[in-house]
Amino acid sequence: MIVCSCNRITELEIRAMARIGAATTEAAYAALGCETQCGCCVDYAQELIDEERAPRPKLRLVASGKAPRAA
Ligand code: FES
Repeated sequence: MIVCSCNRITELEIRAMARIGAATTEAAYAALGCETQCGCCVDYAQELIDEERAPRPKLRLVASGKAPRAA
């Protein structure tokens, strides 16, 4: 899905930049070789970055044969 129509940046690209260290929209866009234009996408892009960088619950396998559950 396109998040930034000015720069044609997708959600997957923003998430990938967050995973390699971009903590802000500016950093993510710079890593992709562009910068904010109209600014309409900034809030949503930051939400994606924050979500991607948030700690994830650890999963543990159980011997019951059921699906893994959050610890
Ligand atoms: S939609 Fe991203 S800068 Fe305009």
